[in-house]
Amino acid sequence: MFSTPFVLSFALLLSLPLLFLFAPRFLPPKHVQISLPDELDDLALFRRATLSSSSSLLLNHHHHHHYHAVSRLGTTNPKPKIAFLFLTNTDLHFAPLWELFFQGHKPLFNIYIHADPSAKLTIPPGSVFENRFIAARKTERASPTLISAARRLLATALLDDPLNSYFAIISQHCIPLHSFQFAYRTLLSSPQISTESPPELTQFNYPTSFIEILSGEPQLWDRYTARGENVMLPEVSFERFRVGSQFFVLARRHALLVIKDRRLWRKFRLPCLNTQSCYPEEHYFPTLLSMEDPNGCSHYTLTRVNWTDSFDGHPHVYHPPEISLNLIHELRVSNSTYSYLFARKFSPDCLKPLLDLASGMGNLVSFLRIGN
Ligand SMILES: *[C@@H]1O[C@H](CO)[C@@H](O)[C@H](O)[C@H]1NC(C)=O
Ligand SMILES: *[C@@H]1O[C@H](CO)[C@@H](O)[C@H](O)[C@H]1NC(C)=O
Repeated sequence: MFSTPFVLSFALLLSLPLLFLFAPRFLPPKHVQISLPDELDDLALFRRATLSSSSSLLLNHHHHHHYHAVSRLGTTNPKPKIAFLFLTNTDLHFAPLWELFFQGHKPLFNIYIHADPSAKLTIPPGSVFENRFIAARKTERASPTLISAARRLLATALLDDPLNSYFAIISQHCIPLHSFQFAYRTLLSSPQISTESPPELTQFNYPTSFIEILSGEPQLWDRYTARGENVMLPEVSFERFRVGSQFFVLARRHALLVIKDRRLWRKFRLPCLNTQSCYPEEHYFPTLLSMEDPNGCSHYTLTRVNWTDSFDGHPHVYHPPEISLNLIHELRVSNSTYSYLFARKFSPDCLKPLLDLASGMGNLVSFLRIGN
């Protein structure tokens, strides 16, 4: 007969490989998982937004006149709008600054807020942010939940107003660097597409999405294999994998393209095994758009960020002593055709000095004033 200790150690030995095989499944998931009901809810929303956009394209063909800067009938056509998509898991620290930015431009913008359910937001009555919340779910770093949240914002804005023509993702740490008028002119004077433009014209008269699309970055391979080796194939080969900032401005047709996507999402929604190299939202959008319409994208972002001395994936955070009109002017300067419109990241206590500058404290001219 076998002695009990022998049986025990034999059983232990046998179970070792099994343990390795099943261990990942026994351990509780470290990060938020996207449940099937949530996924189906999102799909239904994306489908509604896609359908309504294609039907408004067919039925209201004449609506598309508004894409022309000047109409033969004058200015009776409603003007295109910018949808500002606030993605946050805290209070909107710079809401009063954004209020100043939006002041007096009501017909030209819409606001949508995706706030993590754990966020405690204080929205004063009468604020432009009042009642602008969309159905939101939990978001977490190093998980695909930030992609889902951005897509939910895009879909809701597409569905809500056919005049929404540009879609800007903004975080609670972002501030405006120019007046609304300046931002509007920048986006709406960038080349527009029209369904009536002859094809040879649209080739040059392309609408532009402002999204950073980079390849050949140092940590790209680790990012590519963060969900396991080869799992991205065949949809996304390493050669086509891109990185860029999650803070972008998309033209309407690109917003539609993003919410219609199923193929790449199936891959990017896979949970990360290597959470150190996992930032799905920095890859999904640039990869998808560079595959589908590389020439329709700027490849750079309009949101300035300072990566000098970055730590743990976080960029430089500006603090009150650094805030000055000079800093605002410095942050606007870009190497592209367009000046930066937004900047991040700012600590919440920068609100006071920024408000002082924006309200034209002393004899300084407000950096948010018309013409700035
Ligand atoms: C960027 O951040 C560094 C510190 O990390 C700071 O010294 C530098 O002035 C910042 N650059 C700009 C343009 O604000
Ligand atoms: C512009 O390009 C120069 C040279 O490549 C670089 O040093 C600088 O940081 C760039 N400026 C911005 C705002 O990106």
